Amino acid sequence: MSKFLLIKKKIKTFNKQIYVSGDKSLSIRWVLLASQATGKSKGYNLLMSEDVLAALDSIKKLGIKVRMYKNYCEILGNGINGFKYKKNLTINARNSGTLGRLLLGLLIKAPQKIKLIGDESLSKRDFSRVTLPLEKFGVKFYYKIKNKLPLAIIGSEFPKGIKYLEDKGSAQCKSSVMFAALNSSGTTFIRAKKSRNHSELLFKYLKIPIKIKKTKKYDFINIKQPKKIMAFNYEIPGDISSSAFFMVLTTLTNNSKLLIKDVNTNPSRTGVITILKKMGAKILLKNQRNYRGEKISDILIESSNNLKAINCPSELNSSAIDEFLVIFLVAAKAKGISYFKNVSELNQKESPRLKWGSKILNMMGIKTKLTKDSIKIHGQPNLDITKNIVIKNYLKDHRVFMMSAIAALTCGGQWKIHDKSSIDTSFPSFLKILNKINDK
Ligand code: S3P
Repeated sequence: MSKFLLIKKKIKTFNKQIYVSGDKSLSIRWVLLASQATGKSKGYNLLMSEDVLAALDSIKKLGIKVRMYKNYCEILGNGINGFKYKKNLTINARNSGTLGRLLLGLLIKAPQKIKLIGDESLSKRDFSRVTLPLEKFGVKFYYKIKNKLPLAIIGSEFPKGIKYLEDKGSAQCKSSVMFAALNSSGTTFIRAKKSRNHSELLFKYLKIPIKIKKTKKYDFINIKQPKKIMAFNYEIPGDISSSAFFMVLTTLTNNSKLLIKDVNTNPSRTGVITILKKMGAKILLKNQRNYRGEKISDILIESSNNLKAINCPSELNSSAIDEFLVIFLVAAKAKGISYFKNVSELNQKESPRLKWGSKILNMMGIKTKLTKDSIKIHGQPNLDITKNIVIKNYLKDHRVFMMSAIAALTCGGQWKIHDKSSIDTSFPSFLKILNKINDK
């Protein structure tokens, strides 16, 4: 298989129906929580991507049995604190910040040193955002380079509940502490800035003692240690972050229509829909239903040729955090200057996405004004690229690759996009689905 993707033509009008693969956040959470349950859990429509495979490999290394069947994955949980800790254990979270950070929350009782490593991209990311709160449980961390992977963790014998103020709007930080609370006596109190709430909904469904009080800006969560977690079957809904690439593809292609079936539309994840609709995109949620507290919908998108710039309200940042690269593409084709502020968290992702987004837009001939935590994008509704563009994605960021493919198919030009295998991180079937939409 060639290592790069060549796109020389824009996509033609389409009218299609697709399914995207299972949600990454929910897949990783199901794997980790099933490992703490007592007995056999089955996961259906689990995302079979590198990040989730890394999660399965990690729990296997910790003594949990995993079996793969044609239609589902089975995990034989060993109960809370049921991991088996072999000597000199190294766990590889590969590219996944979610896995690395959430798993540390489950390791707070590890009786001996466990090493956590990751790939080049993950090794550049900050881990102090979870190690600092986890230290309050009595856990110790050792680094080669401060706050970065590789690190080693030694747990505490009797961790006690903590008070934690989460101020970044990071679901990874919140969930890491929530997972640690499963292994701690007493109560853990968290005041968290709004972020995706899949962990809370799963805790509620699993009858883990959790109380949540919501205010406009913060969620106040308190968790008591459960006696036991019941084994649970779960059908993972489609991933809205994967869907977002096709929402933008349809919005920016003339006379086209797309129905994406069975997508998780939890309101803490739908910022991309709110933002695109404010910009004039035509997006409709149909057939809405509830599955164990999660909202699921079919998403209908129609092309729009009347896009306007946005001054994006910062309250939407967390619920659209993984979708900004494709949102920037819509801004590039909208009338006026769009402004996205307080988005420094984008530079903490698999690659510095605020910088990358700006750089790619500049290559496309779009003017941007970039600061440490904001970007202004000067839209060109008639943008039609004719030049050659080469994207070398040195940290192999899956979303940089997919954003570039959508840009090529909607804005023209001859594109050579490197690191095709990066899609395996979150969305291995991305190109297959793209071909299905493109096939006349
Ligand atoms: C995730 C939370 C987000 C998101 C990531 C998945 C999760 O990260 O960017 O892709 O599953 O909890 P932060 O919590 O760091 O914002």
